[in-house]
Amino acid sequence: MSKIDVNKIRSDFPILSLQVNNKNLVYLDNGATTHKPKSVIKAITNYNERLNGNPHRGAHYLSVAATEAYEEAREKVKNFIGAEKAKEIIFTKNTTESLNLIAYTYGMTFIEPGDEIVVTISEHHSNILPWQMVAKAKNATLKYMYIDKEGRLLEEEYKSKITDKTKLVAVAQMSNVLGTIYPIREITKYAHEKGAIVVVDGAQSVPHMKVNVRDIDADFFVFSGHKALAPMGIGVLYGKEELLLSMPPFLRGGDMIEYVTEQNSTFAELPFKFEAGTQNVEGAVALSAAIDYLESVGMDNIAEYEKELTEYALSKIKEIPYITVYGPKNINNRGGLISFNIEGVHPHDVSSIVDSYGVAVRAGHHCAQPLMKYLGIGSSSRASFYFYNTIEEVDMFIESIKNVRKWLGYGES
Ligand code: ALA
Repeated sequence: MSKIDVNKIRSDFPILSLQVNNKNLVYLDNGATTHKPKSVIKAITNYNERLNGNPHRGAHYLSVAATEAYEEAREKVKNFIGAEKAKEIIFTKNTTESLNLIAYTYGMTFIEPGDEIVVTISEHHSNILPWQMVAKAKNATLKYMYIDKEGRLLEEEYKSKITDKTKLVAVAQMSNVLGTIYPIREITKYAHEKGAIVVVDGAQSVPHMKVNVRDIDADFFVFSGHKALAPMGIGVLYGKEELLLSMPPFLRGGDMIEYVTEQNSTFAELPFKFEAGTQNVEGAVALSAAIDYLESVGMDNIAEYEKELTEYALSKIKEIPYITVYGPKNINNRGGLISFNIEGVHPHDVSSIVDSYGVAVRAGHHCAQPLMKYLGIGSSSRASFYFYNTIEEVDMFIESIKNVRKWLGYGES
């Protein structure tokens, strides 16, 4: 049994006591965004009441206070994901911006005609579109690694797609649709043998499991704060120092320069070279508080607890004959989300009907249209758990989906 005291945890999250449609909220859309504990809300208020200033730009009290808070947050993120140096941590808006930064700078500089970029078919659009752009602009080839029936990426598949021509591999650590946890360490090892670098999308993994970028040997690693208890608008790009040094800046303007003349500029050192303009210091401070909270619960405890919730939910959902579940059967190959379809019912209807029971799930293509096409479906419903969800909430979710076809006049429950 996991060591999570879920009732105590829930008392830290004011929004979880909300009533929706006269029912207790059952929030199962954590893959889309998560909620904030009081400590994060308090950190935001404290920043605005005591620390707000423009960092790196002034010698006055508040500019210094904001600078210190911002750089402490960078240090916190560095330790949280096991990076070696704080200057390898770049604050961005979100995962999408981090991936675009890599594509526009590393990709547009180092990918050449004839090179191959390799992604999995299950990537989120934000880990496909930037590479489509680079491939088209540079006459490179964008290749896909396909998954098996259970949503796993098999060794023979990635070894057949990553070749001597591969310059860059971009892969999510955990799929936002299938929940599959991919064998990142094995992929980076093989890609490095072939001379390729690996970009890891950690948007769905970082909030739910212990991640160490050096253990998995990611060249770049990206994630968003809002899927890990922090607000929207703060994201992270980790890059190995030698790669970040070799890349041109992404955005140009204030605070990312060393010296500017009428016609030329030189750029600031890492990480500031990649942080043009006034940054989201409030978001970084909130992310730091979010990391404190996650670490106080323990990432291994979170992973263990979510595994129990998911295993329980899968066992219940499998008892319903007209429901198809996507993703790995083996719980050890997947994280805490379940995508499914109810025969004869559009996922948007599923989502609307269960919402009337207070249950929040996502429905649609989940920003993964190539995967939907590969699976032969247009869309799915998705329940995604976090460590503040309970077994009772899973039961309420199961009850609500059992009622969907009844609502639509199918006769059975
Ligand atoms: N990428 C987010 C999700 O999967 C929005 O829901």
